[in-house]
Order: sequence, then structure tokens, then C-alpha cells
Amino acid sequence: MPIRPATADAISDAAETLRTGGLVAFPTETVYGLGADATNARAVAGIFAAKGRPLFNPLIAHVADVGDASRYAILDHRAEALAAAFWPGALTLVLRKTPHCPIADLTTAGLDTVAIRVPSHPVAQALIRAAGVPLAAPSANRSGHVSPTTAAHVEADLADTVAIILDDGPSAVGIESTVVDLSGPTPVLLRAGGVMSEAIETVLGVPLVRTIGDTERPSSPGQLASHYAPRATVRLGATTAEPGEALLAFGPASPNHDGPSVNLSFTGDTIEAAANLFAALRRLDAEGVSTIAAMPIPDEGLGEAINDRLRRAAVR
Ligand code: TXA
Ligand code: MG
Repeated sequence: MPIRPATADAISDAAETLRTGGLVAFPTETVYGLGADATNARAVAGIFAAKGRPLFNPLIAHVADVGDASRYAILDHRAEALAAAFWPGALTLVLRKTPHCPIADLTTAGLDTVAIRVPSHPVAQALIRAAGVPLAAPSANRSGHVSPTTAAHVEADLADTVAIILDDGPSAVGIESTVVDLSGPTPVLLRAGGVMSEAIETVLGVPLVRTIGDTERPSSPGQLASHYAPRATVRLGATTAEPGEALLAFGPASPNHDGPSVNLSFTGDTIEAAANLFAALRRLDAEGVSTIAAMPIPDEGLGEAINDRLRRAAVR
């Protein structure tokens, strides 16, 4: 059993595993990550193998603080402002690499930019500091599956390939980080996520350019249309569920359904819904239904990020 409660001992063993090129799954406030030493190309290759992920898909480097970030990436005034407002937290910045950036080319898929995040989760923080290296970490799921928000989700996908899964209970945010590209003159929203795009725009003082939905030429491979697909088909904008379907409900006015159903938030709270989303999709998928009928969710608050994930899940 690779699952271990995230005690000081387990974190110290996990850090040793990372320093010697192994893989460790660890909790972050967004979703569980599958970590490797971002400066060790062989270790990072292990991530791609474990996930069954296409190469050339760049990974986020997780660091402990802004000082650490500036060793690997160039932070201009916009990046400094966003870092001050949202780090540690659910924001990833795509930035230009520093001239002698030690992060492996495999981590950045050969790009001259690097995606950096400072997670707030105390276990992630402790692990990064104990390992003493930046951690390349995608979500700890097989490629194309929904992201894991519990250690058990990780085990279901990766038990055979990961040495240690550090368990610290369900992820608080439950949806991946917001990805903003600051490598060019105009800030671009590459992925809606745990930090609301409006809050980012307020700090920047300019609107984000949205490439989301441009699945023809994704600049961020996480935008690939069917990236978050459960096994079942997802039917969007459902007001009722048919017999044989599962119901993914939202809000107080959920229809009666004589079959599997989960309500993401009875009070219609998009933050609570984001935290429940991936576990709900896994639970309904496990019922073996062919279709999950998803009720509409308003595009406000974290609704933008939730609807983005549901639209991808609906693509076959
Ligand atoms: O919340 C999260 O972000 C989680 C936790 C573990 O930190 N990680 C995560 O990683 O969701 P992943 O690999 O599933 O998604 C990273 C996203 C992908 O869409 C990837 O294409 C994009 O970030 N990305 C990474 N580096 C990039 C770069 N240099 N340029 C553009 N996009 C990049
Ligand atoms: Mg992922």
C-alpha cells in the first residue's frame, strides 16, 4: 500500500525518494500532484511514463516561495503583483526562464518558458523544502482521467507506479490552479481554475486574453478538448435526468431522480461545487452509467472553471 498519512516521517521519506529520482504523490490545495525533481530529466520522464501522458506536455514546477521562483523564472512587475496577491495558492504563472535555469527541458517540454506555482498546502510546502528541489508535478491521475482530490483517487490510477502517496485528506479547492501566461506583452488566461479570473484582472488592471475554448491550436495542452473525460458521456445543461442516467445536480432545485445522483452544492455555492466536482464525477462514473446528466452551473465565481471542465468532459 503506497498510501501513507502525511506525518513528518513520511514527508522525510518522500523527500528522500524525490532526491534520488523517484516519484511521490502529494496533496496540494487544488488537487493531488504526482511529483518528481524538476531538475532531473530521468525522474521527470518517470512522470510521463506513469501518467501515460504525451511528451511535449509541459509540467508545472512547484516551489516554496517567490524567492525560489525567481531562481528559475523572470518575474516582471505584473508577476510580482500576482505573486503578492495569490501566492501561496491556486495560481500558476507561465514566465520566461532565467538564463541558467536548472529545470530540465523535459519539464518545460523544450519551451523557453516555465510554469511556476507556490502551493499553500502545508504538506506540499514541507515536501518542497525537505526535498530542496523544485517539484515538477502534474495532477496525479492517468492522462485523460479526472484529477484526483483524495489519496484513494491517486491509488486507483497510479498504485503500481508511485512509491509513496502522502495522504492529507480531500483537497480544499478541488479544481486545478488558474494558469496565466505572462511571457508576452499581454497576459493570457490559459486555464480557468482555483483563483477567479476576475480577481486576477483586478490586480493586473487589464483584462486577460482568453484562449480557452480555442481547442484547434491549444497553447496550453491542458486545453485539449477531452482532457478531463470520465468514462461516461456527460450531457450538459440537463434539467432532468432520464432513467439509466446519473444526475450531477447543482443548487436547491435539483429534480427527483431514481438513480445515482450527487449534488455539487445544495446552496448553489460554486466554491463548494469546485471542491466536490472531481470526486462526484468519479463516483457517478463508478456506477457504470453511460451518461451523466449535468445541471447548468452559472458562469460566476468558480463556475467558469467548473463549466470549462464539464465541457471538456462532454467531448468524446
Ligand atoms: O493545480 C494544479 O495546477 C495541479 C497541482 C498538482 O499543482 N497541477 C496540474 O498540472 O494541474 P497539469 O500538468 O495537469 O496542468 C498543467 C497545465 C497544463 O495545461 C500545461 O499545458 C500548462 O499547465 N503548462 C505548463 N507549462 C506550460 C508552459 N511553459 N507554457 C504553457 N502552458 C504550460
Ligand atoms: Mg491534469
